Amino acid sequence: MTNNDVLPAPLCQLDELPLYGSKGFHHRGQALFAVRQGEQVFVYENRCPHRGVPLEWVADQFLDSSNRLIQCATHGALFLPESGECVAGPCAGQSLQQRPCYIRDQQVWLD
Ligand code: FES
Repeated sequence: MTNNDVLPAPLCQLDELPLYGSKGFHHRGQALFAVRQGEQVFVYENRCPHRGVPLEWVADQFLDSSNRLIQCATHGALFLPESGECVAGPCAGQSLQQRPCYIRDQQVWLD
């Protein structure tokens, strides 16, 4: 094994994510965020399709006040947690870039 080999590592522990909450990450050079909705977790690149900027103004806050929709802090676009589709705002119909993930042994892994 060389120093350039990358060992597999989880994105996070499941219990780092509130039951209906979100968290940002810098993972292997990429800005990502995870959204948990009960037992489901979704991971997206932290880049709004409207202007290409990060979604959050406050660390780890990617959801609206209901904690059921992803919200971009810049112009308020709202996205479905399950698909990343923008359902309201200046980029309606466009989508966040989803990263497939799965949960194993109470850890969130990128596919
Ligand atoms: S930059 Fe996200 S809604 Fe405009």
